[in-house]
Amino acid sequence: MATPSESRHGMWSSRWLFILAAAGSAVGLGNIWKFPYIAGDNGGGAFVLIYLVCVAAIGVPIMIGETLMGRYGRESPINSMRKLIAVSNAGSYWSAIGWLGVLAGFFILSYYAVIAGWALNYVQLMARGEMVAITAESAQQVLSDFHASPLQMVFWQTLFMVLTVWIVSGGVSKGIERAVKWFMPLLFILLLILLGYAVTSGGFAQGVDFMIGFDWSKVTVDGWLIAMGQAFFTLSLGMGAIMAYGAYLPSDAKISSTVFMIAGLDTAVAILAGLAIFPIVFANGLEPAQGPGLMFVTVPLAFGQMGAGILFGALFFILVSFAAITSAISLLEPALAYLVEEYNAKRSRVAISLGVICWLLGLGSVFSFNIWSDVHVLGDKTVFDFVDYVSQNIMLPLGGLLIALFVGYALPKELVFEQLGLKEGLAASLWMLSIKVIAPAGVLIVFVKTIYDTVMG
Ligand code: TRP
Repeated sequence: MATPSESRHGMWSSRWLFILAAAGSAVGLGNIWKFPYIAGDNGGGAFVLIYLVCVAAIGVPIMIGETLMGRYGRESPINSMRKLIAVSNAGSYWSAIGWLGVLAGFFILSYYAVIAGWALNYVQLMARGEMVAITAESAQQVLSDFHASPLQMVFWQTLFMVLTVWIVSGGVSKGIERAVKWFMPLLFILLLILLGYAVTSGGFAQGVDFMIGFDWSKVTVDGWLIAMGQAFFTLSLGMGAIMAYGAYLPSDAKISSTVFMIAGLDTAVAILAGLAIFPIVFANGLEPAQGPGLMFVTVPLAFGQMGAGILFGALFFILVSFAAITSAISLLEPALAYLVEEYNAKRSRVAISLGVICWLLGLGSVFSFNIWSDVHVLGDKTVFDFVDYVSQNIMLPLGGLLIALFVGYALPKELVFEQLGLKEGLAASLWMLSIKVIAPAGVLIVFVKTIYDTVMG
């Protein structure tokens, strides 16, 4: 079967736009909000190291696999899988990769929009000067007051979903490209400014020590599990987002070096965010292991003390919101592209319908912080915890495992080598080793452990 050179949904204008879009997908709340707090919860340096190992040994090889699958198929993950299955003479059960991905995208976006809504709310809190010279206690109070109000949380969640749907409706070049071209460079600059503040905050040495200082006794099995989940989440792997974006990648772009760039950018932002946030934590005597609220307490605290804090604080949260939007659109794209292909439907109409479903699902996460805080699913998990847990620890690894196995064993080797422009040699062998053995084994071990823990409580 010949593969088309263009996708019907449009194409990235260049390899760089793909890098920006994929980095836009990768860099999001996972880097700025989640990475610092899970590193904080899991002992800092030791966790950072195993996370880097997971990104390099498992994340990057799988990302290469996902991109090449998308570029060969040139359609939504579900329909690209159909083509890939046909050309490989593989069993139709492999199509689970596409369906699982669409489902995971919904789950993730539903709660992702809630947290992104917090960031939007903080834009106006900062801009109105509500956080000027605030103390750590009052910063924590502002966050808990906000969580206590379902109405406010729904308002910001809704606004975020509307923005996401609006951008994704614009399509590949008029929607996604336009957004990432501006947001990504700006985000980077703002992060450097925050880092500059952290360096002078008085807690920098301690913060660096926490992030890099390394203690084997803190490396736990659970740490590996969380690190692997985070590697998938932060690189947007395992659910077809990168496959969908790969479908719009020009045929002459070299996949491996492109993926290195994306993974490098993503990792850099996560580390920078940690280096910006932990010094502030220590300088203000805060607890590094304080969970999801970490960024929303420390960052306002830092900007609240800065001269032009109102401006920079608001800008920081605007950019976190933008980072979240460029990720959210990639969570919607697989399902969106599929429905457009299947029903020849209008992009914007599909985007709105999908947005509404995600929004409804997201209400469960909103209420987890207030009126449903006592409702537990699976042990002591709130709806929010549950959706987060199932998507990140079960669906993404499972998707990643299937992708690695499919690329490693089912796809014809010539197709893979041709897409990657690879020749037999050391690089090819290393990548093959990872995609056939290391990545599947790693994911499988972690996965079995997760299931075991879940079932055994
Ligand atoms: N990578 C994004 C982040 O770090 C989240 C994200 C976007 C994602 N698309 C995804 C996660 C696809 C998993 C799969 O915030």
